[in-house]
Amino acid sequence: MSKQTLDRILQSQGFGTRKWCAELIADGEVGINGAVVTDSRFAFETGGLQFTVFGEAWTWREHLYLALNKPANYECSRKPSHHPGVLSLLPEQFIRRDVQPVGRLDHDTTGLLLMSDDGPFIHKQSSPKHHVPKVYVATTHDPVTPQLVARLLGGVKLHDEPAPLTALTCRMLDTHQIEIVLEQGKYHQVKRMLAAAENHCTALRRTEIGGLKLDALGLAEGEWCYLDAAQLTLLTPS
Ligand code: URA
Repeated sequence: MSKQTLDRILQSQGFGTRKWCAELIADGEVGINGAVVTDSRFAFETGGLQFTVFGEAWTWREHLYLALNKPANYECSRKPSHHPGVLSLLPEQFIRRDVQPVGRLDHDTTGLLLMSDDGPFIHKQSSPKHHVPKVYVATTHDPVTPQLVARLLGGVKLHDEPAPLTALTCRMLDTHQIEIVLEQGKYHQVKRMLAAAENHCTALRRTEIGGLKLDALGLAEGEWCYLDAAQLTLLTPS
């Protein structure tokens, strides 16, 4: 547990510079336990601290671990060029905390995207050594056939990859829908594997990372939620 002054607490949570946060506090815009606090030098235990800013409730968090149901036509890049960035779907103070997407989804891919401001967590989750299966549902241009499934399981050669890439598991969901589970996260991997197997991906959705299922989070497209400790353990390979 650590005690911090209220201006530093708000600054650490992304509400602005210490000076700006001190002004918010002096202006009576910040509440703790239902009471307005106007002295920015008052110190509080940070662990579990509940506070309000402009009447909106927040809980102090050392780091942010978020799941977003990414809509189509949003870029994962920090400097998006053709579409809005996924960061624009989050509260402003999260951006000030330097929240970043964990890995990338293409602008037209939808579904589960993790986001965090914890550098080592992002690094670990994005590392090729971190073998957490990711589940994708791809809609295909041509019908899904047993041959397509067999080719993806057997391995397909992509022109810039030394060894064929295989799906961990793969199954037909519908005439034009296939579920593909991958351990690696190569550039456009699902789309390129389907193209190498002589089909074409027309829509792609990530439904699961490790044991964390998008459906279980109950997020509409464009919505995000915090991940708790139990959900985070699902992202660690057993
Ligand atoms: N594979 C792709 O082709 N695109 C993605 O966005 C993710 C995996």
